[in-house]
Amino acid sequence: MKNSSKDKAPYLKTKHYLLNGRLETWHGPQSKVHSYIVLDEEDQPTEIGEIPDMDSEIALKALDAAVNAFGRGQGDWPTMKVKERIACVETFVKHMRKHRKEVVELLMWEIGKNQEAAAKEFDRTVDYIIDTIEAYKKLDRKSAKFEKESSIHAHIRRGPLGIVLCLGPYNYPLNETFCLLIPALIMGNTAVFKPAKLGVLLITPLIEAFQKAFPPGVVNILFGRGRNIAAPIMSSGRIDVLALIGHSSSAVALQDLHPNKNRLRLVLGLEANNPAIILPDADLEHTIKECISGTLSYNGQRCTALKVLYVHENIVDEFLEKFSNAVDALKYGLPWEEGSFLTPLPEKGKSNYIKELLDDAVGKGAKIINDRGGELSPNFCFPAVLYPADSTMRVFNEEQFGPIIPVVPFKDINEPLNDMAQSEYGQQVSLFGRDVSKIGPLIDILANLVCRVNLNSSCQRGPDVYPFTGRKNSAVSTLSVFDALRSFSIRTFVASKDNDYNNKILKELLNSEHSNFVNTEYLL
Ligand code: G3H
Repeated sequence: MKNSSKDKAPYLKTKHYLLNGRLETWHGPQSKVHSYIVLDEEDQPTEIGEIPDMDSEIALKALDAAVNAFGRGQGDWPTMKVKERIACVETFVKHMRKHRKEVVELLMWEIGKNQEAAAKEFDRTVDYIIDTIEAYKKLDRKSAKFEKESSIHAHIRRGPLGIVLCLGPYNYPLNETFCLLIPALIMGNTAVFKPAKLGVLLITPLIEAFQKAFPPGVVNILFGRGRNIAAPIMSSGRIDVLALIGHSSSAVALQDLHPNKNRLRLVLGLEANNPAIILPDADLEHTIKECISGTLSYNGQRCTALKVLYVHENIVDEFLEKFSNAVDALKYGLPWEEGSFLTPLPEKGKSNYIKELLDDAVGKGAKIINDRGGELSPNFCFPAVLYPADSTMRVFNEEQFGPIIPVVPFKDINEPLNDMAQSEYGQQVSLFGRDVSKIGPLIDILANLVCRVNLNSSCQRGPDVYPFTGRKNSAVSTLSVFDALRSFSIRTFVASKDNDYNNKILKELLNSEHSNFVNTEYLL
């Protein structure tokens, strides 16, 4: 879809990057950034800016900066008082808020997210950071004490792990990246961060906020390709945590480069193919509403999206008719147009890939059920409801990250359960029905196949205080406001045998300001 030339595209050319606390200027090659929102006089992707295409030499300098700031645990940042690190994050969020308008506009142009969702991504990220600060204070308050067991006093806290390489995804380039980066930093780690391939310009207004808020070397921000930046950093063996939201193939390739895998901690949010199971007694009107948002919010480009609908054969005809009508009624438009639910797809060649998947499924016996299903343009494919789908089809096994909705009829509940048990993924499921004698035992099984069973509700990550994780190829570690603080830290403590000599020293330590670790201050 084209937009009118009166919809003025942004243009942002940046040569800046953040290294060791300085905003440096890159003098090497630049990469063009394109939006797949097409201006009508051009008929080509719209050029909306340029970013540095940095090389491995600079990547290793950024790594050096992060390594020096951590100082093998002896640096100022990892040994600082908790309240001082919190103050840095508060400064960051204060500066970040000033850039809401630019970031939201870039989210729309760079990744085609509709205005409401783009604004929500920004606001949710700010809330996440504020909640992280509160969660860290709570954690710190719980640690602000001594315990005694078997005549040993212990003062137990969580300490940082070291150097973090942080890589985010294109579909939530702000939110998911910052949900890794901020907890990593606040816990005392240092980081090198490279934005995703798409959704990169929107990070540039925030670089200065990072520079103002954090001491030199604590966070270093580079631009460029993964093979030039992430690969040499991993090969150096100096990364302690790989924090990545993306595909397992990238995560595995990066891990393989690390010479000391045994000491590499992984915090990974990976692909999924979440199913919905619709039982014969489900409230169809409600189920359809949830399945529309579950399958098609942001055109299905969410790792939590519903990617296959198992519908009981007794209700499948009625479901298909109502669901297809609901899909065909969805409004496609430009991200800033009122009520646009479906929007242009930001990845080059994505509609060709979607077409390949549709052709494969149709060749294997499925039909596109809805009237508008599969209408194609270079930057969009209208959502297609495929029926009957089965496990021989590519769309069933690949994380399509797009607007295809395969519907699989079932007679026996073991059919979807067995498929899920066989699947390489295990993030979430949606279960629709109302008879508790059926739902109860199903929940008992589903809870072992995935990590969140959504009852009569679509799959989703939020609210961010709930654990977000997955089994099998879907994740490593758990993320939530609280869990992320744990994922980026390790328990470490001071222990001392209970005797007069030690107790006197401990008391003196506590009454002094000599240790940032040993203190029982209650953070307000
Ligand atoms: O792409 C994965 C996102 O974390 C999904 O988040 O369920 O809130 O859209 P969401």
